[in-house]
Amino acid sequence: MANPTIYINPVSGSIKILGAVDFVDAEGNILETKENVKFCGCSLSKDKPWCDGSHKAITGQNRSTNS
Ligand code: FES
Repeated sequence: MANPTIYINPVSGSIKILGAVDFVDAEGNILETKENVKFCGCSLSKDKPWCDGSHKAITGQNRSTNS
């Protein structure tokens, strides 16, 4: 399995991970595995910890872009 690739957008703060990501509890037990996730780094998302595009209100990015 290839390592996931992480993209950090320095403008929006969003963190996109391409590839499989294991979500674990405090003991390291895998709770869920997801593919291609995007976390909020701006704190504006209404669906934290996921990025919902709300950062575009402060970055001026067009909603049609994938950033
Ligand atoms: S980075 Fe916060 S909503 Fe996208």
